[in-house]
Amino acid sequence: MEGVPKNIPIKKEIDPLINHAPKRKDILSKDEKIIALKNALRYFPATQHEELAADFLSELKEFGRIYMHRFRPDYEMFARAINEYPGKSLQAKAIMLMIQNNLDPTVAQHPHELITYGGNGSVFQNWIQYRLTMKYLAEMTDEQTLVMYSGHPMGLFPSHKNAPRVVVSNGMMIPNYSKPDDWEKFNAMGVTQFGQMTAGSYMYIGPQGIVHGTTITVLNAIRRIEKKSGENGRKLFLTAGLGGMSGAQPKAGNIAGVITVCAEINSKAVETRHQQGWVDEIIQDLDALCARILKAKAENEVVSIAFLGNIVDVWEKFDKENIFVDLGSDQTSLHNPWAGGYYPVGLNLEEANEMMAVDAEKFKKIVQESLRRHSNSINKHTKKGTYFFDYGNAFLLEASRAGASVMAENNIDFKYPSYIQDILGPLCFDFGFGPFRWVCASGNPDDLRKTDEIACLVLEEMIKNSPSEIQEQMADNIKWIKGAQENKLVVGSQARILYADAEGRMLIADAFNKAIAKGEIGEIILGRDHHDVSGTDSPYRETSNIYDGSKFTADMAIQNVIGDSFRGATWVSIHNGGGVGWGEVINGGFGMLLDGSPEAERNLKMMLHWDVNNGVARRNWARNENAVFAIKRAMEAEPLLKVTLANEVDEALLNGLNV
Ligand SMILES: NC(=O)c1ccc[n+]([C@@H]2O[C@H](COP(=O)([O-])OP(=O)(O)OC[C@H]3O[C@@H](n4cnc5c(N)ncnc54)[C@H](O)[C@@H]3O)[C@@H](O)[C@H]2O)c1
Repeated sequence: MEGVPKNIPIKKEIDPLINHAPKRKDILSKDEKIIALKNALRYFPATQHEELAADFLSELKEFGRIYMHRFRPDYEMFARAINEYPGKSLQAKAIMLMIQNNLDPTVAQHPHELITYGGNGSVFQNWIQYRLTMKYLAEMTDEQTLVMYSGHPMGLFPSHKNAPRVVVSNGMMIPNYSKPDDWEKFNAMGVTQFGQMTAGSYMYIGPQGIVHGTTITVLNAIRRIEKKSGENGRKLFLTAGLGGMSGAQPKAGNIAGVITVCAEINSKAVETRHQQGWVDEIIQDLDALCARILKAKAENEVVSIAFLGNIVDVWEKFDKENIFVDLGSDQTSLHNPWAGGYYPVGLNLEEANEMMAVDAEKFKKIVQESLRRHSNSINKHTKKGTYFFDYGNAFLLEASRAGASVMAENNIDFKYPSYIQDILGPLCFDFGFGPFRWVCASGNPDDLRKTDEIACLVLEEMIKNSPSEIQEQMADNIKWIKGAQENKLVVGSQARILYADAEGRMLIADAFNKAIAKGEIGEIILGRDHHDVSGTDSPYRETSNIYDGSKFTADMAIQNVIGDSFRGATWVSIHNGGGVGWGEVINGGFGMLLDGSPEAERNLKMMLHWDVNNGVARRNWARNENAVFAIKRAMEAEPLLKVTLANEVDEALLNGLNV
């Protein structure tokens, strides 16, 4: 509740035990540095400017950004139970809980730089924005809306009870100013931030959020391989990254029943995931790694191994030693290739971090060289039969930009599919299945257990009457929720992710609301990943299975967030540049507090229906077969829904035209 402290707190030393963001490049001109300092100082009274100007300048020189480290609060950062927050609005308290969870050092990647995941996914640009936002939330009523401009709280504006309590926009730029260096420059000046997807929208729930999607992907990739080869032996899955989201890969590999090797260059990330039980073993030596794989194959083991080193070395070693990789992918942060998202082969972590800060041009060349080598080695494996897919991290996009051999013969498409094109798009998003999630606002693990049971009962009831087209998805989701407690997925708040379609999300949320009304559980915060059916327009990821040319438009994501905001969302957000990178995607999301009231029931039904069916309608218009099926079904269930349907065109007719 303090907001900007009256007295300047003493300077804080950089804690070497915490994972810190890499130094950003020195991109501002002298005049722009003056603007950056003026921008930072405008939060403080003039009497404090002399002392703070010197401090902020030294941060700008040392880190390339002004984080205002000394204003980081001294209290522990974690999500408290909702009733422990001060304030006049229960909804605002729910948002404070979610913000603190996103900054919890056991959850966030670079917590002191206010970065939750993905190397640059920020909740705020600096600690004063955090302090002011918490103060506004603690003071506001349900007759106000807090407006967030890329981490900066513009202020409280009068609104009404059913309006969102917070409206967030992150990184929204005039389209021509959305190149990677524009982020570097305008973020350094303190006027925008990269909110990733669930970082700047306060909806991150740790790697669990992605484990479910990753499990679905790995499971279905293996099903594909087995259907094609007719062979069911233990499969080897090779990939990279043990960071915020990529850390889910070994866990998903274990659930899907494969041998997973996950290369990770950063020992801190390796240790974190190992301590959390997300990866079984750590190996540093390539020969030892090969021996371990052969043993696991011989003994038909399910095991996940973190290889501490560079992924390119592993691909090359496995090729040399003729170790067959069944399934290959990559989850380094290539949406952020020049600032620490991808570590090029041949340099260690420290050397790379140093070079990207002092000689950005040289570093870029080395990254591109590494991407060419990386792709060459993957190509050798795929020739032997490896199924490789792009994991939505812009690997193929950046490799193609580096001149690597990853283009298909038509020179338009990539040689390899994205996981959305082959798996998540047709099997999930087109039917409306996506990463629905909830957080138990009491912080009580018992509430989570009860909600798991409620959700499971709902799905088990639904599957009895589900059409054959979605039986497998329903069964996978039931299996997931049944195993969720045992898989110990919670990091940070008591949260759960569960893929569900529009009907499933509405029925589960309604059952929660009723249980809250009866006093069986405390309040629940609903949300989802932006990586979903309707929330994200991203031509190389979420909408990569849209083939009518509209994948380069962003109407769906914009419509989605507007539609959610007037159908009862507690907060909404819209971002430029989550996942695949700045300028490459527009994505949005929501949060919704369920408090057991009739208003919450009306809101959840209205908003969740729109939040999923908007995207299903668009996918249907793009002539995606499964979406046509799903939207027709939705129209039968809800007479007020009337969606324009596409007429089929006979390909033979078009082929006969002299175009
Ligand atoms: N799978 C999905 O469903 C999904 C969803 C959303 C986003 N993504 C994308 O996946 C990427 C990873 O996300 P994250 O949150 O884990 O990012 P992160 O930055 O937290 O983790 C990436 C990790 O890769 C490591 N790394 C980089 N280069 C390496 C190399 N050459 N060899 C070995 N390790 C290397 C880094 O040290 C880092 O720990 C992002 O681009 C993200 O947008 C994937």
